[in-house]
Amino acid sequence: MRQLPADFFRTPYAFYRQLRAEGPVHQIGLRNGVRAWLVVDYDAAKEVLRHPDIRKDPHSETGAQARQAAAGRSGVTAANQRLSYHLLNADPPRHSRLRKLVTPAFAPARMDALASRVESIADELLDRIDLAAGLVDLLAEYAFPLPITVICELLGVPVEDREPFREWSAAVVDTPMSTPEGMREATDAIVDYFDRLVALRREHGLGDDLISHLLTVTDDGDRLSHDELISMAFLILVAGHETTVNLIGNTVLTLLADPPRYRALRDRPDAVAPLIEEVLRHNGPVNVATLRYTIAPIALGATEIPAGELVMVALASANRDERHFADPAAFDPDRASSHLAFGYGIHYRLGAGLARMEARIALTRLVTRFPELRLAVGDEELRWRESILIRGVQDLPVDPAGAPVDPALL
Ligand code: HEM
Repeated sequence: MRQLPADFFRTPYAFYRQLRAEGPVHQIGLRNGVRAWLVVDYDAAKEVLRHPDIRKDPHSETGAQARQAAAGRSGVTAANQRLSYHLLNADPPRHSRLRKLVTPAFAPARMDALASRVESIADELLDRIDLAAGLVDLLAEYAFPLPITVICELLGVPVEDREPFREWSAAVVDTPMSTPEGMREATDAIVDYFDRLVALRREHGLGDDLISHLLTVTDDGDRLSHDELISMAFLILVAGHETTVNLIGNTVLTLLADPPRYRALRDRPDAVAPLIEEVLRHNGPVNVATLRYTIAPIALGATEIPAGELVMVALASANRDERHFADPAAFDPDRASSHLAFGYGIHYRLGAGLARMEARIALTRLVTRFPELRLAVGDEELRWRESILIRGVQDLPVDPAGAPVDPALL
């Protein structure tokens, strides 16, 4: 069984290259005792993500047993069950039912209508950075508040409540790495929060927000149950910001390694979209997809995964598979991309348009406002999140005016 190397969170790519050279799938052990099969090839990743014998529902007998057995001493399965009735935990036919009920809320026209609001939020945040006049943590001051404000407004969560969500969602988003206590505390807090929010809507009337929409949504009389509703709201809140924060962060980081490329975007706004697509492939915000398990033996290359075992798909590895992408380590926005950063198959992420739109606006506004922006620390001083699911930095210290900074002052 393989363990993750010490520098995995800083840069997982050399480890992944080595694994791919040895085979498409490997058994790994995580430091909290969780054991799983890690899929690293592009073709194998696609096969697993659409395989009918690879499932997600943690409530089925095999699902519960696979999680229990693989969790070892970690006990990470002990979180609040009431948040677990969402799309990303559902298999067909329940998945198709839930997806049909929530998809209209993400219709492209609805997302387009949000663009001008996203622009105003970005501009307000940049005003504050301008006024602060000095070094700033671009993650805390821009990449985080932008998507969380958008998703809170979309859901109808008062913006002043957003701070605790950062902590709660960080504890919950990473099942394979979390502690049972951290998971339990965070999930209990989220359940309480959404129970109260839904009760308020029921008492004081519905609004034009996503929670109200999810409360009323119906398809041939079918409705979301209360636990399905709070689970969906939770999934949308977490999935809708954790990923986008780090897409913005990783994009800025990639560009600041090449200041002329960054500055040039100011006169070429059309270059922003393909650039973001290449960041999604090259250093996307989701490292490993969410947990799955086998319900029958599955052969991948020369390896057979037995039934009832946990499977994780390393999207970041698939996106650098040399059998699929020429010179995969090179950052090349001109390549035609068929990346798996948003997953594949039935769980392909909802909210595509929203994530791409937010990242495009965030970057366009940033470069227009601060064309001389510079990273204020050396590459080796960046602190990467110790998360197997999310790939991104903990903070992103920048100098908006771009003056050379004495590292001794930081
Ligand atoms: C850069 C931004 C994003 C990335 C890289 C991303 C990535 C992903 C990935 C990889 C999956 C599939 C996970 C798996 O199969 O294990 C997924 C699913 C999902 N994402 Fe995202 N996502 C992003 C933004 C968003 C946004 C903005 C929203 C909503 C507001 C969202 C909502 C969802 C939902 C609801 C699912 C579950 C879909 C299903 O099970 O049918 N995502 N996302």
